[in-house]
Amino acid sequence: MTAKVIDGRAAADLILADCAQQVAARPDKIPGLAVIVVGEDPASAVYVRNKVRACEKVGLHSRKYEMSADTDEETLLAKIAEMNADPSINGILVQLPLPKHIDGEKALTAILPEKDVDGFHPVNMGRLASGLPALRPCTPHGCMHLLTKTAGVDPVGKRAVIIGRSNIVGKPMALMLINAGATVTVCNSKTPELSAIAREADILVAAVGRAEMVGADMIKPGAVVIDVGINRQDKGLVGDVDYAAAAEIAGAITPVPGGVGPMTIAMLVSNTLQSAYR
Ligand code: GUN
Repeated sequence: MTAKVIDGRAAADLILADCAQQVAARPDKIPGLAVIVVGEDPASAVYVRNKVRACEKVGLHSRKYEMSADTDEETLLAKIAEMNADPSINGILVQLPLPKHIDGEKALTAILPEKDVDGFHPVNMGRLASGLPALRPCTPHGCMHLLTKTAGVDPVGKRAVIIGRSNIVGKPMALMLINAGATVTVCNSKTPELSAIAREADILVAAVGRAEMVGADMIKPGAVVIDVGINRQDKGLVGDVDYAAAAEIAGAITPVPGGVGPMTIAMLVSNTLQSAYR
């Protein structure tokens, strides 16, 4: 079997085109996004550049604040408070990872929940856990869109396995799949019998941050495989899934690059609109 490729770039372009139309229809209220970066993590710099570029393409107003790696927590919290109070800013994103001397939880919790376009605030996570409307974390939200809308999979009655338990992807992904009716197992890199568990999945989400660790022995024939990994190797970007091997077995699979990555950005723009037009 050769898996159907789930094209994240095309799906993201459709979402961004829809967002651009919505923005053009409301010239009186241009949504604003503030992106705050602390330090010089090279991967963060690329992600943030792409986020700001997408905002410009759609016609959003975006502001980027680059703070030095030795910025203290108080200065960051003051910047967040300033953005909370600014009526032209509807979404605030603090790029992760933050330097070790800053308490990340404190920073994320300082963002007003209604401006928390990353969906990481405990209020938004709690609302998601309760099945209430919320600003949803962009990467798992994008994965759900690729799964249900692009690949046309109904999670009801399906067994889903997520490898990775992070607050950014694994946990919210589990909540979204539970809310959508799937039977969900959350694993991590140390789960015993990981391959056997993964092989039961109709929907397999790899979000563990280890290059190509999900091999052919971990995939059920015909499964839908969503690869969240972005790992830099000498040969270029690779996911958490061994793509060539998986594509022989899976029913559908997201490529890296061009799968989940562009969807994270599209969902950030969509969340900023949701926040502005609420
Ligand atoms: N770092 C890696 N992914 C993300 C994300 O989705 N949001 C933020 N704020 N930082 C990240």
